[in-house]
Amino acid sequence: MMYHIVYQSTAVEPFNSEPMQAMLEHSRRKNRRIGITGLLLYSNGNILQILEGEEPIVHELYKLIQHDVRHTNVITLADGPISQRMFSDWSMGFQDIADQDFKHILSCVEARQLPPTSRVEVDEPLLNLIKSFVEDEQPRL
Ligand SMILES: Cc1cc2nc3c(=O)[nH]c(=O)nc-3n(C[C@H](O)[C@H](O)[C@H](O)COP(=O)(O)O)c2cc1C
Repeated sequence: MMYHIVYQSTAVEPFNSEPMQAMLEHSRRKNRRIGITGLLLYSNGNILQILEGEEPIVHELYKLIQHDVRHTNVITLADGPISQRMFSDWSMGFQDIADQDFKHILSCVEARQLPPTSRVEVDEPLLNLIKSFVEDEQPRL
């Protein structure tokens, strides 16, 4: 079953630093190998990442990511089955975006939060909004 997880977190180091660039390269290679696609938006220390793939593989990777010391405050926003991949062209799209764009995306995400878990139904229009920030700017698979 296709599955996705969306989370936000806070980077410990800026993304243009050498360790983060190395992490990005490593992640892209590994994602290609294990069939994960998705994207990572970054703005001023804030991270929003979407991971999609087969359910057990997404969960296993997310466990590693949650414990990665290169970021903190990992908050799961969405976690559930999807009918198809939205980011099949990207092993991990990446875009450093403006603060106000990041805030806009987060407020759209938060507007869809459902009590009591605060999980979000990240639907296609929202994914398309997020995608529009990366489209045509990134190297593909
Ligand atoms: C913000 C952030 C995003 C990450 N995204 C991915 C990812 O998409 N794919 C991945 O394989 N690792 C990702 N990682 C790295 C993982 O936490 C972990 O270090 C890596 O998967 C281990 O790879 P290995 O199994 O080759 O040792 C990310 C780490 C951070 C801090």
